[in-house]
Amino acid sequence: MTTLLVTGGAGFIGANLVRRVLAARPDWRVVNLDALTYAGNLERLSDVEDEPRYAFEKCDLSDREAVRAVFEKHPAIDAVAHLAAESHVDRSILEPAVFIRSNVLGTQNLLDVARERKIARFLQVSTDEVYGSLGPEGLFTETSPLAPNSPYSASKASADLLARAALHTFGLPVVVTRCSNNYGPWQFPEKLIPLMIANALDDKPLPVYGDGMQVRDWIHVDDHCDALLAVLERGKPGEVYNVGGDCQLPNLTVVRSLLRILGKGEQLIRYVNDRPGHDRRYAIDAGKIERELGFRPRRTFEQGLRETVDWYRAHAEWIARVRSGAYLDYYERQYGKRIPTRSAPPRGPS
Ligand code: NAD
Ligand code: DAU
Repeated sequence: MTTLLVTGGAGFIGANLVRRVLAARPDWRVVNLDALTYAGNLERLSDVEDEPRYAFEKCDLSDREAVRAVFEKHPAIDAVAHLAAESHVDRSILEPAVFIRSNVLGTQNLLDVARERKIARFLQVSTDEVYGSLGPEGLFTETSPLAPNSPYSASKASADLLARAALHTFGLPVVVTRCSNNYGPWQFPEKLIPLMIANALDDKPLPVYGDGMQVRDWIHVDDHCDALLAVLERGKPGEVYNVGGDCQLPNLTVVRSLLRILGKGEQLIRYVNDRPGHDRRYAIDAGKIERELGFRPRRTFEQGLRETVDWYRAHAEWIARVRSGAYLDYYERQYGKRIPTRSAPPRGPS
């Protein structure tokens, strides 16, 4: 029996992974370690909280003794899927130090304790943003140089390098995944897709940064979780696996699709000043994980987006709850002073 520690299991991807592992691997146990920051929310896992193969531990990774205590309480932990992180680029621009504490120091503490406990598999869940920004052509491969541009992506690249060092120096069996933009149920409404759905449902403006022609490569969170399970079980230590949805779209196309699905008009779109250092384009070459582990994403974006909109419609109370209190302060800081630009929407994607 595997006992898997999922860090960040109360977050968007982590909670979907916890649920997926419990359902797909009936002989596995899952320990969910999470600090419950603004982004962590156990409501995401209310359907599994009574499952005997599941345990939750509130713990901040920046506290090494607390991390050690979790492993001592659950001595059977033999694999780690490390997802806990500060994950939002805009917040990293407002407060970089928070990202260094959780994503860099937190990762090093976890690596140290995992090494002490002789963990059999350590999955470092990373992001395509460590590769920086693409021009109009080309795809990120696993050998693309690391060239992070935001405090968030720099902190994730640092964590990847510390994980690499733990493998090379101490023999910790580390595998790394680098995935593109996720969407799906339970995503916090600060990221593009849930923010736009939540605002449109309330007939509030949809803030599109710059010209809206930045490209992201979208993948459904369930596909990402299937890829993580494949790499946990069959990935080779020391290897990096890119994960992507083969679905590269300009932001404006995504926003317009959402408005169409929601039956709302384009007058809700507000072009606002751009994110500083905004990466223009991400696109993943996911050939390696397909060739070596047989993984391919299964969900189409069109279907996934419709289901996601339905999910947010059905969970309006959750959105209202997480969009209160500290969220409102963040929203004001992030969007309050953003200047609506006069630039006309570009011609192009519909
Ligand atoms: P999220 O912000 O929804 O969740 C992060 C979770 O980590 C939260 O539950 C939070 O409480 C927890 N956490 C933060 N700091 C912590 C700390 N110091 N100690 C313990 N727990 C802490 O993030 P997400 O979108 O689910 O992303 C999960 C991981 O996947 C991150 O590592 C992110 O870099 C990576 N990733 C995300 C995407 C994406 O599109 N969302 C794509 C590729 C990779
Ligand atoms: O590529 C993987 C990464 O994807 C993950 O590592 C990050 O954790 C995740 O947050 C995401 O980063 P992005 O910066 O690409 O995601 P975000 O949803 O913040 O923005 C997507 C695009 O939409 C980006 O080009 C910025 C733009 N945007 C975003 C917001 C929040 C807007 O135009 N307006 C907005 O209000």
